[in-house]
Amino acid sequence: MNTERVTASSDQIERAARLLALGELVAFPTETVYGLGCDALNVDAARKVFVAKGRPADNPLIVHLADWEMLSQVSAMPLPPLAARLAERFWPGALTLVVRANDRVPLEVRGGLDTVAVRMPSHPVARELIQKLGRPIAAPSANRSGRPSPTDAEAVYEDLAGRIALVLDGGASPLGLESTVIDVTVDPPTLLRPGGISRRDIEEIVGPLAEPTGSGQHRSPGTRYRHYAPKAQVVVISSEDPVVVTSQLQALDRGPGSVAVLAPESWLTRLRSPTILSFSLGETVDEGAQYLFQGLRQLDRMDPEYIAVIWNHHQGVGEAVLNRLHKAQGLGNDSILFVCTGNTCRSAMAEALWNHRYGIFTAHSAGLMAHLGAGAAPAAMKAVSKLGASLAHHRAKPLDSVAQEPRFVLTMTQDQAEAVKRMRPNWAERVWRLSDLVGDPSGDISDPYGGSDQEYEAVAQQLDGLLLKLWQVVWDRMSKDS
Ligand code: TXA
Ligand code: MG
Repeated sequence: MNTERVTASSDQIERAARLLALGELVAFPTETVYGLGCDALNVDAARKVFVAKGRPADNPLIVHLADWEMLSQVSAMPLPPLAARLAERFWPGALTLVVRANDRVPLEVRGGLDTVAVRMPSHPVARELIQKLGRPIAAPSANRSGRPSPTDAEAVYEDLAGRIALVLDGGASPLGLESTVIDVTVDPPTLLRPGGISRRDIEEIVGPLAEPTGSGQHRSPGTRYRHYAPKAQVVVISSEDPVVVTSQLQALDRGPGSVAVLAPESWLTRLRSPTILSFSLGETVDEGAQYLFQGLRQLDRMDPEYIAVIWNHHQGVGEAVLNRLHKAQGLGNDSILFVCTGNTCRSAMAEALWNHRYGIFTAHSAGLMAHLGAGAAPAAMKAVSKLGASLAHHRAKPLDSVAQEPRFVLTMTQDQAEAVKRMRPNWAERVWRLSDLVGDPSGDISDPYGGSDQEYEAVAQQLDGLLLKLWQVVWDRMSKDS
């Protein structure tokens, strides 16, 4: 599909509304980030959004309204009193409310839930587009799943060219960070995602907000996945001490270009050297929020190994910035661990290929008998680079050094699966031979060690095929969980 990118003039907005009415996808600016819009009441159009983004089917979309009247098209009932006060105060604006859905909202849009998330954006282009369509627009952020949200048309194009009909260019999104998501179907209301409107401002109106607990309905489905992540590894440095910050940066340094720094201007002037790649988060907390995603994308284009982000504001919108940074670091339990013997070829290749291809879950790898710090086998590096991934920075690690609690532990052979279960008994339920978990008859993946380049390439291709199946398995299991 050819993706057109046009300035958001009135004529083009008119055209975009016609495309939406035909069930096509259009990306458009909002005051928070760019959205990938579809007609919220059209099932087929909603399905297309998930395909274009590579988004898990159980992660629901936000429905955008132009006026109060539209709320009745998606909500089962008028807003409860507390919710109404929030909406009166912050709409139009960066606040999303989770309410009871009515039957007209396709299950696809609600991710299978009986609730729907609604927001009235303030951006004039978004408002005009919804008005011209005359129906609510369902729109997640217009990035490929797992990537930083787009704050300008360029970033949308980078992620979605060829996958959607049109990008309306309305300049940079002024807030730069997504809306705050509050579940108002529970008492007290629950903060599902910190965002453009601060907790303090909301609590002034409704009193203390609850925190999402466990994995139940109080949790926003989208919070389970690795998010906002550039290709480089994000490392958050929260110290206020210049000596500590400098030594943390030095510890990451693997030579020129290996570390890029995203930090408030005051830090950059202190640290700046001609060799350091950097992007400024401005002076204030609001500017930090505004430039965060743009900075992550901009630095990532220079292909560093690490993006070090210096950020120590925990209050106001600073909380939302930290939330996005922690997700971009890939912290949490949502990881896959690949295991082989030496962690220099098979499991390392699987890790590199997975992280290259898929936005959900971070892959790691380890070996039953690995030498800590050993690089990847040169033939393995060549084999994965033919598939677009890189092992240049891989360092082997033994299984007993793994600190994460992975969700899936996948070995190359049956013997390895048994050995992992013996070494880490509490993982027993999550260990599989890779081919078994994905239901592939291939059995053990043999060790190409010492073989020709062709043998390594064959193993890389075999892994790549198994990983595609794995991706489907992971998604199926995640949707059953929720
Ligand atoms: O600022 C924003 O909110 C942007 C612009 C385009 O409006 N949109 C956005 O959408 O960030 P998205 O899809 O990237 O994030 C929506 C979040 C996800 O965390 C999702 O799980 C949550 O809202 N969500 C949506 N519907 C929900 C529901 N019914 N219950 C709980 N969480 C819901
Ligand atoms: Mg998003």
